[in-house]
Amino acid sequence: MLTGITPSGVPHLGNYAGAIRPAIAASRQAGVESFYFLADYHALINSSDPGRVQRSTLEIAAAWLAAGLDTDKVYFYRQSDIPEVLELTWLLACTTGKGLLNRAHAYKAALERNAAAGADPDAGVSVGLFMYPVLMAADILLFKADSVPVGRDQLQHIEMARDMAARFNHRYGEHLVLPQAAIDESVATLPGLDGRKMSKSYDNGIPLFAPSAELKKLIFSIVTDSRAPGEPKDTEGPALFRLYQAFAGPDESARMRAAFAAGVAWGEAKQALFERIEATVAPMRGRYLALMADPARIELRLHEGAVKARAIAGPFLDELRRAAGLRKLSG
Ligand code: TRP
Repeated sequence: MLTGITPSGVPHLGNYAGAIRPAIAASRQAGVESFYFLADYHALINSSDPGRVQRSTLEIAAAWLAAGLDTDKVYFYRQSDIPEVLELTWLLACTTGKGLLNRAHAYKAALERNAAAGADPDAGVSVGLFMYPVLMAADILLFKADSVPVGRDQLQHIEMARDMAARFNHRYGEHLVLPQAAIDESVATLPGLDGRKMSKSYDNGIPLFAPSAELKKLIFSIVTDSRAPGEPKDTEGPALFRLYQAFAGPDESARMRAAFAAGVAWGEAKQALFERIEATVAPMRGRYLALMADPARIELRLHEGAVKARAIAGPFLDELRRAAGLRKLSG
């Protein structure tokens, strides 16, 4: 199992419930080898701020470690520490049809925006954006991943990785493993402050490790409707309930559902939500702050992860290079 996390912002509650928590749970299953990495090469595609890439890489690494990722049991590394990723990117680029990449959603969306604005079709489109699916396929294929847990928005990229693997194999023999996307519908997609999906791009996130007082302030700023205390409230619509449910057990959720039906005041529900989230986050926050204060410790863990990962990637890349004709001239 393998998945990448793009370091492009501050980790928020949605990242925790949607990615960090399920990944850590999955990594504790017996018989599964898991690979988690910080996709910092991917971050360069959309960020022109070097400081932000570095800061986000640090924060996300600290968040995963603080949340309990056991780096003795998993492969945890930074993409840019693995030069084999880029070497495989080129090998794949040479067996992948340009037409395949023309169909990528992110690239097509950029073309459509330009067309709508009457601009040159490729205005603002970097080769990096165009190659994004190839880089992502290299991430996956380098470690022969079978299963790739991703959000629905990434499904096309996994399908493209399969296509690229099949093309490569067709030309050079059966070397690459065709991966499968693992989209877990039961994994929570959390609403943000404005009720839309919590996302860096909407700027509606609640930082996972905001100080307690700020967390409380943000939770109290979640939009609600004008239903008064005592008026029954459904639990389908309101972001408040969906957030609560993502952090509560089934019994707690059932009690909160009953409180909503009985017309709990929004202020009271917000206080309960704050307390629920704070109870989950507080122990991790202490570890997070300690890690953030000692980046060298994180760097060391990532370095160890890279050494472990390269022990697999190096020999496999040699095999692929030879298959493609990049061989010693003697023997
Ligand atoms: N592109 C993914 C995202 O934005 C992150 C990513 C990079 C990834 N490489 C990957 C995910 C390989 C899975 C496998 O979410």
